[in-house]
Amino acid sequence: MNSRHKAILKELGLSPLWHIREKATVDQTLQLKTDVATTIETDVLKQAGRQPVDIGQMDWTQLSKTVADCHACPLRKTCTQTVFGVGDTNADWLCIGEGPGAREDALGEPFVGQAGKLLDNMLTAIDLKRGHNVYITNIVKCRPPNNRNPSDEEARQCVPYLERQIALIKPKVIVALGKVAAQNLLNSNGSIASMRGKIHSYAGIPLIVTYHPAYLLRALPEKAKAWKDLCTARKLMQSLE
Ligand code: URA
Repeated sequence: MNSRHKAILKELGLSPLWHIREKATVDQTLQLKTDVATTIETDVLKQAGRQPVDIGQMDWTQLSKTVADCHACPLRKTCTQTVFGVGDTNADWLCIGEGPGAREDALGEPFVGQAGKLLDNMLTAIDLKRGHNVYITNIVKCRPPNNRNPSDEEARQCVPYLERQIALIKPKVIVALGKVAAQNLLNSNGSIASMRGKIHSYAGIPLIVTYHPAYLLRALPEKAKAWKDLCTARKLMQSLE
């Protein structure tokens, strides 16, 4: 069709014309089907309140976006934003708390309230600094209302994200801060007293349990025990270097 024909059709309101496209190759058709199936699967899972199945393959960008979009449990409805984690993504040290509090929920960073200040001091005591060779995150990425403990189901839904963070960071030592972190990571109902003072293992990575900084703010005499735990962790790290 020449440009005159095109102009006439345009005048008559009959353009643009649809062209028949080249036939897609078998590979293109299969890829398209796979893409559509993946999109539908992701949407269905989102509607069903579950995470996508391929978390174990995600890179940092995909993982943080997936966490930000997650509605797998009811916590997302009441929190302000997800709190993914902070620090060095190649760190030797990984500290894991329970879940964001009010200040963390407002700022989008873990351990930035009073407990966070104490955690920073605890890190300083073993020559560490937030952002340098240490990564900090939580069992759940959304704030539980009124700072209650996350339920088993909320933790179960969120733990695949933490598992992927751990697989990407490959820390040498994990420090579980408090009972909720320790129980979830060690799949145990034990008390903090029974879990402290031992070197555990999480996915082959040595794990030390200590008190949660928020608890230490209320129970100052226990600080000495936390100091002992951190010294054990530091010795352990030195033995691995
Ligand atoms: N308590 C936690 O367990 N995590 C935070 O991020 C803040 C307080």
